[in-house]
Amino acid sequence: MSAQSHLRLSGKRAVITGAAGGIGGVIAAAFAREDARVVGMDLAAPLAAARWNGAAITPCPVDLADRASIASAFASAVATLGGLDILVTAGALKGGSGNAADVTDEDWDRYIAVNLTGTFLSCRAAAKAMIAGGKGGRIITIGSVNSFQSEPGAAPYVASKGGIAMLTRALAVDLAGHGILVNMIAPGPIAVPNNPDQYREPKLARAIGEIVALRRAGEPAEIAGAAVYLASDESSYVTGSTITVDGGVSAMIFGAMRDG
Ligand SMILES: NC(=O)c1ccc[n+]([C@@H]2O[C@H](COP(=O)([O-])OP(=O)(O)OC[C@H]3O[C@@H](n4cnc5c(N)ncnc54)[C@H](O)[C@@H]3O)[C@@H](O)[C@H]2O)c1
Repeated sequence: MSAQSHLRLSGKRAVITGAAGGIGGVIAAAFAREDARVVGMDLAAPLAAARWNGAAITPCPVDLADRASIASAFASAVATLGGLDILVTAGALKGGSGNAADVTDEDWDRYIAVNLTGTFLSCRAAAKAMIAGGKGGRIITIGSVNSFQSEPGAAPYVASKGGIAMLTRALAVDLAGHGILVNMIAPGPIAVPNNPDQYREPKLARAIGEIVALRRAGEPAEIAGAAVYLASDESSYVTGSTITVDGGVSAMIFGAMRDG
């Protein structure tokens, strides 16, 4: 037995997209801590600035809006790692695009291209590598509570996240025969470094206090815990599922009526 055999991802080879981002970055570092070998994909500039708390992540630039870029990034990652066991798709465009009646063609196309088509192309590339390896694998998509609930002024984002929920299930069904388990994590409001003050803005802070059962925004590490579980042997009978990590935001209505 190796000294590190208690680690939950020993010997696993993982790709994380959005690895320079708040959630993807912490997942990449958590996987490395669990002894996985990790390739972190993101746009070149954020990737060059990413530090991962000192974890040994191999950076690999990708533009999720560009099919050729995704194909060559995955070819290079699979060659670097000598195969692939785990994919996490955390790369995405976030934010609002105005009232649905006024959404521009450009915004619609951008969100769907990066968030939905980019996720599909990443999953397809990973699935082909996992099938070729013959040892199954894990695909973990990052959806959102917006996969199931809308919010004002975010139609393209919300539609892209709803698409990811059904893509996850379709992949789970089609890849089960290859031993590839596919699940989604649906985060609620998570405070991330590239927008640290987002949930401190007074209107949003008040909303968080009212709509989140736990009355606070979450931390990226609270998403990484679910990702490690879904990547590990502990989740061997879990596929086509969603783990919602949202402080109870989707469990509650009329939160403003709480007394305590
Ligand atoms: N933070 C939250 O409150 C929250 C809530 C629900 C879901 N999510 C989801 O979690 C995931 C990670 O989000 P985050 O909060 O860490 O945001 P983030 O902005 O910190 O990370 C997203 C990453 O995606 C990368 N990215 C954007 N466009 C890209 C492209 N064309 N090619 C390659 N990379 C690209 C960005 O560079 C960034 O590093 C996203 O899917 C987001 O929708 C976040």
